[in-house]
Amino acid sequence: MSLPSHGGNVHKIARSQGRSVKRVLDFSASINPLGLSPAVRRAIQQSIPLAIHYPEIDAQPLQQQLAEIHKIPEACLVIGNGSAELISVIPRALGTRHGLVIGPTFMEFERALTLAEAHCTYVHATPDAGYAPPIEAVCTTLDRQAGTKRNKNSDNTVPVDTVFLCHPNSPTGQVISRKQFDRLMTSVQKAGARIIVDEAFIDYCASRSVLKNVGKIEGLFVLRSFTKFFAIPGLRIGYLGGPASEISAIRSLLPPWSVNILASAAAETAFQDKEYQRQSVMFMNLERKRFRACLQHIPHVQRVYPSSANFLLVQLPVHCPVSLLVHELCEQGLLIRDCENFAGINVPTIRLAVRRPKENDRLLKALTRGLLKWS
Ligand SMILES: Cc1ncc(COP(=O)(O)O)c(C=O)c1O
Repeated sequence: MSLPSHGGNVHKIARSQGRSVKRVLDFSASINPLGLSPAVRRAIQQSIPLAIHYPEIDAQPLQQQLAEIHKIPEACLVIGNGSAELISVIPRALGTRHGLVIGPTFMEFERALTLAEAHCTYVHATPDAGYAPPIEAVCTTLDRQAGTKRNKNSDNTVPVDTVFLCHPNSPTGQVISRKQFDRLMTSVQKAGARIIVDEAFIDYCASRSVLKNVGKIEGLFVLRSFTKFFAIPGLRIGYLGGPASEISAIRSLLPPWSVNILASAAAETAFQDKEYQRQSVMFMNLERKRFRACLQHIPHVQRVYPSSANFLLVQLPVHCPVSLLVHELCEQGLLIRDCENFAGINVPTIRLAVRRPKENDRLLKALTRGLLKWS
């Protein structure tokens, strides 16, 4: 099975163009544009001499720290080599037979389900509804199977046992209200299922997190990543909170020493740098608003969806050859994400990370030129 394509291919592209990675502006992966926090940088540097030792087998000190921060028992937490590693083992570890994915979204949920030989069904948000998460439609599907004790639904399909919600969702940037979450949880529980809430981008709207409910709400799992907000995609570290027995099953499928010493050191320091967190959120709230307004003024841009994360979803005209536009910008050292290969996105659409103002301005100019040419 081939890997779904992702943003962030800076190394490959820089190599193919014979330019340094530093000269590629990556709008295709959504990483905190403020870069490394000074405290995290110091922690990484100080831990380099420890690289001659194996790391702790299950990143225990970090696990203890995360348990204290989130007020979750340690047994309810597992740390992985990026949240992508955890996603890849969840369906297999939990014996998932049918996953319902709220789309369009991160394609690794589908891949993990396929690898576990589980069914994958999507319930997609639509552009007509502004990509609002289709919570009512999901609840209707789950309610229909609620109470079924048999192995099959009435239409002969295997009942949904696992729901995947990315929150805020990538690539649409949307969040759900607390009321919608409660409604969704009621349906998930009635259907005898569980839900995996992927909070990879939650730090930009932290009050929306449901992580604190792990262990309190039955069937709730929450995934977190250090990658996006703390700008350490190259270190690979993320974690999952959920019921202790199922977390133990997930842990048993991970290789030993999955999390390296530099990543643990960075993560242990990350949450302590409150000033960096405050500045990052403040910066994003301002720059996302400005960038969105500028994008909306580009001729031929159809729609720029509101976002609670550090990226924007931009709809282009139906006739726009997005792959050519992406290629043309790439030649200029500007990487953007063509959303064509997200299941459920059927109109020309791109996702743009919000970067620093000067970088965003450079993209705005190139995009304006590019769209004029193809219109
Ligand atoms: C929604 C979402 N979840 C999880 C991941 C995986 O992140 P990581 O493995 O770097 O923690 C990504 C990466 O792009 C993502 O977009």
